[in-house]
Amino acid sequence: MKIAVLGTGMVGESIATKLAALGHEVCMGARSATNEKAADWVARQPKGASQGTFAEAARHAEIVFICTRGDVTLDALNLAGRDNLAGKVLVDIANPLDFSKGMPPTLFVSNDDSLGERIQRAFPDAQVVKTLNIVNADVMVNPGQVSGELSMFLCGNVAEAKAKIRQLLESFGWKDVLDLGDISAARGMESVLPIWLRLWQALGTASFGFKVVR
Ligand SMILES: NC(=O)c1ccc[n+]([C@@H]2O[C@H](COP(=O)([O-])OP(=O)(O)OC[C@H]3O[C@@H](n4cnc5c(N)ncnc54)[C@H](OP(=O)(O)O)[C@@H]3O)[C@@H](O)[C@H]2O)c1
Repeated sequence: MKIAVLGTGMVGESIATKLAALGHEVCMGARSATNEKAADWVARQPKGASQGTFAEAARHAEIVFICTRGDVTLDALNLAGRDNLAGKVLVDIANPLDFSKGMPPTLFVSNDDSLGERIQRAFPDAQVVKTLNIVNADVMVNPGQVSGELSMFLCGNVAEAKAKIRQLLESFGWKDVLDLGDISAARGMESVLPIWLRLWQALGTASFGFKVVR
């Protein structure tokens, strides 16, 4: 599939690398068409990998992964362009973290709204699926690195979009994928972050995840 990965940070790099290794045609998007991190990533990939602006990456993609800083995600999507996102599945991995008061960050939206819902409201013609935001970038694409079978959540308003992303998650190695319902479930998924941050401190590693026992 043709897939855009918007973001050149740890998450963009992990997701784009995994997708390219699985044989997808991946374009990594950034604000600049000549972003150095994206160029470095392309140089290390098999044929078919490319880079571009957020808009160039989104234009030709069937699926768009959102791997941008939470507080600027809507800016990045506006740069990607409404027309380039219309009718597409947007996989939202971003967390609404506010680092303005230092560590640990707080959530700039929570409880009765979420970043996932803000994205869906701002781009009503797109199909937003929230997932993967509850684990570290390495665990996202290699859940087997953590002993024990982890659970992953996903939510969104469109069943077909969720089915497509469930398949991609399974190709990443996720076996226990739990559909939490419409995009308002992003409130709960984003609220996992405060406990994730505390566990990171307590365990001294980011290589962990959550398992729903039932
Ligand atoms: N790190 C993790 O393990 C992890 C785990 C779960 C969820 N997340 C979430 O995943 C997202 C990505 O995290 P990350 O650590 O990989 O990267 P990040 O540093 O949070 O974000 C990097 C991206 O944000 C873009 N950006 C920065 N300022 C911008 C602006 N003013 N306008 C538009 N775009 C801007 C950058 O664009 P340029 O490329 O143009 O510089 C870059 O592509 C975040 O929302 C984070 O909370 C991270």
